[in-house]
Amino acid sequence: MSHFSKVNRVPGDPILGLLDAYRADPNPARLDLGVGVYKDAQGLTPIPRAVKLAEQRLVESETTKSYVGGHGDALFAARLCEVVLGTDSRLLASQRADATQTPGGTGALRLAADFIARCLPGRSIWLSDPTWPIHESLFAAAGVRVSHYPYVDADNRLDVETMLDALERVPRGDVVLLHACCHNPTGFDLAYNDWQRVLDVVRRRELLPLLDFAYQGLGDGLEEDARAVRLFADSLSEVLITSSCSKNFGLYRDRVGALIVCAGSAAKLTDVRSQLALMARNLWSTPPAHGAEVVATILGDSDLKTLWLEELDAMRARIAGLRLDLVEALRPHGLAERFAHIAIQRGMFSYTGLTPEQVRRLREEHSVYMVGSGRANVAGLDANRLGDLAAAIASVCR
Ligand code: LMR
Repeated sequence: MSHFSKVNRVPGDPILGLLDAYRADPNPARLDLGVGVYKDAQGLTPIPRAVKLAEQRLVESETTKSYVGGHGDALFAARLCEVVLGTDSRLLASQRADATQTPGGTGALRLAADFIARCLPGRSIWLSDPTWPIHESLFAAAGVRVSHYPYVDADNRLDVETMLDALERVPRGDVVLLHACCHNPTGFDLAYNDWQRVLDVVRRRELLPLLDFAYQGLGDGLEEDARAVRLFADSLSEVLITSSCSKNFGLYRDRVGALIVCAGSAAKLTDVRSQLALMARNLWSTPPAHGAEVVATILGDSDLKTLWLEELDAMRARIAGLRLDLVEALRPHGLAERFAHIAIQRGMFSYTGLTPEQVRRLREEHSVYMVGSGRANVAGLDANRLGDLAAAIASVCR
């Protein structure tokens, strides 16, 4: 008897699966615009100098590899909360917010999903359409019902009015997931006054906001990108925030993230966190320590922090420059207007507006790899190959 005879093969992950296909492509001119990792001018995803220096310090100073607690490294939690909520946060001063360290931002989302499923039974989560595909499967896997609100219109433009109309109809008490900055996959972010309007609906409809904050520092700046998170945290008594250090610290594979809970009182925060520790124990027991210690070391040392901020600024500036240069590379093909949105989108990704069929042709005819939805990782562009990419895009747009 085969125990596995009824186990079927399922399609690969829509994003990570692209990496395997890209690596297996023998074409030396292949281009990887799939998974969201930053690449420098040499095409490498570098370890920031600040991270290397912090790691060197840790090698010398670390005295144990014993377990961290269920909420992870308390120093990491405290310092990350200040980066996210601000050093002057009233919530932090009144002990109404704290972080539970998780394996990456995805771990934070999964912990939030389990919390909703177990502690807020019957509540749906509302995701933007489109959203990061893993949002869809992750909440469903935790047993949370998934619904959607519109985000872009048929012409691939941010559609705030339709989004607000849809949010008005979300049942009272449901959870709404909002991309705090650098919307994945579209790259279209709300203006501050639009965030105030979303806040108004969320407050009136008594919704619970879950702000997914995976790209802090890669949109307009570390502080600027936190404006929506701080607006919600300062205006509402209960907010969930999932934070990731994968991109902004370049710590992808070390899996560093946190679920930050803002509650109405210190006592209620303790209640919620007791549940999170229990759920985390059943998911991953205790979180991996190394990356969080690196982050805590950087944030706790003014020289390392300054160096990290410079490196983060350089990443952001490079991505912004690549956006403008790609639009210029499309100009000789008469496509600069059609793809002008690439220059105003923010963060790593661009929802190009290319159809799944055009994306397939780009892969099969030009070895250009991007997500089937038409999402391109702008942060992975090679500045020397923009002409090739523009020619490939032009050939599938004809
Ligand atoms: C992405 O969307 O490409 C990144 O968030 C990486 C991932 O885990 O999917």
